[in-house]
Amino acid sequence: MAPGMITDEQLARWEADGFLAIEDFYTPDQCLALRERALHLIEDFDPSDAASVFSTTEQSHAQDDYFLTSGDKIRFFLEDGVLDDSGRLAVPKHESVNKLGHAMHDLDPVFNEFSRTDALAALVDELGFAEPQLLQSMYILKSPRIGGEVVWHTDHTFLWTEPQSVVGFWVAIDDATLDNGCMWAVPGGHRLPVKRRFRREGSGTTDDVFDPEDYDISQRVPLEAKRGTLIALHGSLPHWSGPNTSEHPRHAYTVHIIDGATHYLEDNWLQRSPALPLRGFS
Ligand code: FE2
Repeated sequence: MAPGMITDEQLARWEADGFLAIEDFYTPDQCLALRERALHLIEDFDPSDAASVFSTTEQSHAQDDYFLTSGDKIRFFLEDGVLDDSGRLAVPKHESVNKLGHAMHDLDPVFNEFSRTDALAALVDELGFAEPQLLQSMYILKSPRIGGEVVWHTDHTFLWTEPQSVVGFWVAIDDATLDNGCMWAVPGGHRLPVKRRFRREGSGTTDDVFDPEDYDISQRVPLEAKRGTLIALHGSLPHWSGPNTSEHPRHAYTVHIIDGATHYLEDNWLQRSPALPLRGFS
């Protein structure tokens, strides 16, 4: 079977579970090249430029212009607690970064190549996209001991189209294990209505809460993944990853794809400058 094609059985599992893991989707060399590129970008980054400390637990970044204007840039978001009282980094720079976001796939040649492979284009086609558009990229470092939790959420909450279309394509750049904060998901959870929408309001952001109850995570399963594994995550699927309590980094890359045949809302947090329009795989 050609790279990126999936079997009927895999498609059925995708539809039933809302996620699908495919081992060896990327080679170790491809993963290590992306890793090296990310670390190189971090090397060139001046932390004093990033006054914003990124925290998905507290959403304290949400009002921050640095985040809201990052949809068409390459920006660096720090872990909580890595700045000392004088605003200097208390840990090595490459470990202080929580993630890079959100347009590396359009602005950096190495990320572009990793994001626009024939295999991923084929998979996206198999999953039924009419007009795929690569909306957002994130390189997540989840550094040893300090890499933080990402709370239970769905990606549709943040990247809303009508009808729902976003799918996250998550790639293990390092082995992701129970110890270093692998992803967890609720199989079939994508069939339940999304509980929340995060959107712009004025110069900040707000949440529309449709259901204040927490997600029922009693059926959650860990998604441990070897380097090179790709996991497709339906936009309405609740997922979570814990802090990295191990001595090993857990680098991962995610690209989120929407269908250009749907309506992308004007008050979604992520907006592009007209100078950098969304593109598909060509
Ligand atoms: Fe997510």
